[in-house]
Amino acid sequence: MDKIKLTTGPLSDKLSLNETLKKRGSCRNFSDKPIFKNQLASILWSGQGVLTRNYDMRRTTPSAGSTFPLELMVAVRKDGVEDLAQGIYHYLPGQHTLKKISEKDISEDISAACFNQEYLKKAPVTLLVASEETRTTRMYAERGQRYVYMESGAAMQNISLEAVEMGLGTVIVGAFDDAAVKKLFELEEVKPLAIMPVGYPKDKAFYA
Ligand SMILES: Cc1cc2nc3c(=O)[nH]c(=O)nc-3n(C[C@H](O)[C@H](O)[C@H](O)COP(=O)(O)O)c2cc1C
Repeated sequence: MDKIKLTTGPLSDKLSLNETLKKRGSCRNFSDKPIFKNQLASILWSGQGVLTRNYDMRRTTPSAGSTFPLELMVAVRKDGVEDLAQGIYHYLPGQHTLKKISEKDISEDISAACFNQEYLKKAPVTLLVASEETRTTRMYAERGQRYVYMESGAAMQNISLEAVEMGLGTVIVGAFDDAAVKKLFELEEVKPLAIMPVGYPKDKAFYA
């Protein structure tokens, strides 16, 4: 399947970290306005972007023992991203690339799999944070499971703040049917942890 090279997004740094934190909040009402591929690239970079390639292999999110158990999947709705076709993609952090998995628009099905949380139908992009836990439990045994959850929290907060920085909104969605989500994203080995719809907030006052 196709691979799409991403350029790192605007990284505008308009807001200070404290300003960004003050504006953080869950967004559940998305406008029809598409986002840009560069913005999606920034969001993905904030979640798992590779910073250094030497022995420490730093990413934007810390990882217990640098085991990097997280995977980010992306569902793009029809006309959801200005210069990227609808479909399901897998983010490959090492190459800062999207690998196309399918051309389906699964936004309606995601909403159904999240026990009919309606606002998910409207999000231009929906991320899935998933994990291959054995990468971490191989090193830390059972305790590794909690490390994976800690790490996913760090990644999701990065994504939330990066969204704010670009005037976009998101929310962490934990209520969903695991089996249905796995099937939708065509996952075999990895476990779905959380869903994050991303888009422009419909309510202009959201970031006021
Ligand atoms: C682990 C976790 C799971 C969540 N799951 C959902 C969810 O399934 N649906 C939803 O609408 N919000 C979900 N939320 C968002 C919370 O409802 C929200 O953070 C909370 O109401 C506080 O609002 P705020 O984020 O705007 O400060 C979740 C948040 C967390 C941290």
